[in-house]
Amino acid sequence: MTFSNDKTASETLQPLQTHRARLGDTTIAQLFDKDTERGRRMVLEAAGLRLDYSKNRVDELAIEALLEAAREAGVAQAREAMFAGQHINNTENRAVLHVALRDRSERKILVDGQDAVALARDELDRALEFTESVVGGEHKGYSGESIDTVVNIGIGGSDLGPRMATAALKSFWLPGRQAHFVSNVDGQDLQDVLAKVDPARTLFLIASKTFTTQETMTNARSARTWFLAQGAPESAIGHHFVALSTNLNAVAEFGIAPERTFGFWDWVGGRYSIWSVIGLPIALQVGRDSFYELLAGAQAMDEHFRTKPLEQNMPLLLALMGVWNRNIEEISSHAVLPYDQRLALLPSYLQQADMESNGKSVDRSGRAVGVGTSPVLFGEPGTNGQHAFYQMLHQGTDRVACDFIAAAQVGVELGDHHLKLLANFLAQPRALMRGKSFDEARRELVSGGYSEAQRDALAAHRSFPGNRPSNAILMQRLTPSTLGALLALYEHKIFCQGVIWGINSFDQWGVELGKTMANMLLPMLSEGDKHAVGREEGGDKGENALLIDSSTQNMLQWIRKTRSRA
Ligand code: F6P
Repeated sequence: MTFSNDKTASETLQPLQTHRARLGDTTIAQLFDKDTERGRRMVLEAAGLRLDYSKNRVDELAIEALLEAAREAGVAQAREAMFAGQHINNTENRAVLHVALRDRSERKILVDGQDAVALARDELDRALEFTESVVGGEHKGYSGESIDTVVNIGIGGSDLGPRMATAALKSFWLPGRQAHFVSNVDGQDLQDVLAKVDPARTLFLIASKTFTTQETMTNARSARTWFLAQGAPESAIGHHFVALSTNLNAVAEFGIAPERTFGFWDWVGGRYSIWSVIGLPIALQVGRDSFYELLAGAQAMDEHFRTKPLEQNMPLLLALMGVWNRNIEEISSHAVLPYDQRLALLPSYLQQADMESNGKSVDRSGRAVGVGTSPVLFGEPGTNGQHAFYQMLHQGTDRVACDFIAAAQVGVELGDHHLKLLANFLAQPRALMRGKSFDEARRELVSGGYSEAQRDALAAHRSFPGNRPSNAILMQRLTPSTLGALLALYEHKIFCQGVIWGINSFDQWGVELGKTMANMLLPMLSEGDKHAVGREEGGDKGENALLIDSSTQNMLQWIRKTRSRA
């Protein structure tokens, strides 16, 4: 079985233009008027989630053409290749097996001669034995006190997932436990957290796939220095520092013992690692059983994704709506709008998942991709966003495709808060779709005592173009299981889009250049005059490297001068 597609993304997507032309100026609202069953038919349910994709400007023929594009691009073959452990991350020659992390079945996935499912299960079980011993109070701090506080030090995929899920699952927190997250190399981040914790009751999780990331290693070293400076003996490090990483040599060099080191593998991408031992902060906050439930929810979505035909496949349909909006409607922004305060960090999490995966300009073979890829993803919980940036969503010159997310129930309801939240969740996508015509706005002004001219002028401001697409995702309650399903839904959506665009969604070379430049500039900031005039490193200019550009050079000098004055 091979995974390749000779066609460019533009060729694959070309037939969709016919449908765009056929639909002409038909609006989403007109599609609803023509087909009253649309809102019942364009719905899928899986793994405790309900996706309504009817408020996109597509009809059955356009959906069939989108499905054909997915077939042409080889989505089914790529899906099979991923689940089989093939090295689909071609630029790093790695398998992509976050699905193995949550597979608790008897299935085997062989990667380079080893069963990834068994490896992942054994390591996670070992790690969760440890977290249970912390939660249960058997694993104590150096002074004999129980450990009730966790500080996770990591960044990107080693931070955003556990941070987001820990907040999302607040209703499931074990009593008396505290979790903190430090990611930024800005020392204020670490200092703010250290000021709140008691070293004798705190476990530091040093989470880094590579264990070389500048931010994380700097924070980890400073945390260790602080811990010892608080009076803890060197021998206490073993009780209070845990490593979560694939780089076991670097962990050993840092001084964390093998029994406090929990590993994962290069076939787990950083932004797909929440299901691995990187999820330990979640388990320490909600307990082992809830963590297993999170995995089970994701696995239910995996099974749906792996086995359902393309036309009933929720991640694929969500992906296809995204492709239509991005490439055919030419909408380049995507808002994720959870009507759930506990999902406040979901947009940031998905920002990395989507933009780091699909923010690529060349296809798998290095050709220019030729179509738009990852949209700009942003979002905030509703209803907060309604009082901030929704103005632009409704009346701005650019359209934004939106995903609205909500749970029908919450654990403990407060008066009619949740009904009000849900009313807003229902109203916004409808308002974005329906809009309000100039004439409707004008009619509403009849009773206001305005002149005809004033009504015309005001109606222009008070009308809404509508025809703005959105998806709605509902669940009964936000639980570990539905959260797992939701995250897996987006992971597979991103995967399908990557396949359709012909790109490798699993590397991230785009983050390297800035890191290299920061490493070049650091000594110029810290070592005084020796490096006052720096030269560009690398590139193709060799010995004749240009001086650092005048803007960077001047800022550098200004910072040095200002800091030396202070
Ligand atoms: O620089 C980007 C990145 O490599 C992400 O892909 C990753 O999630 C993050 O940095 C952190 O990496 P690590 O877990 O290796 O510290």
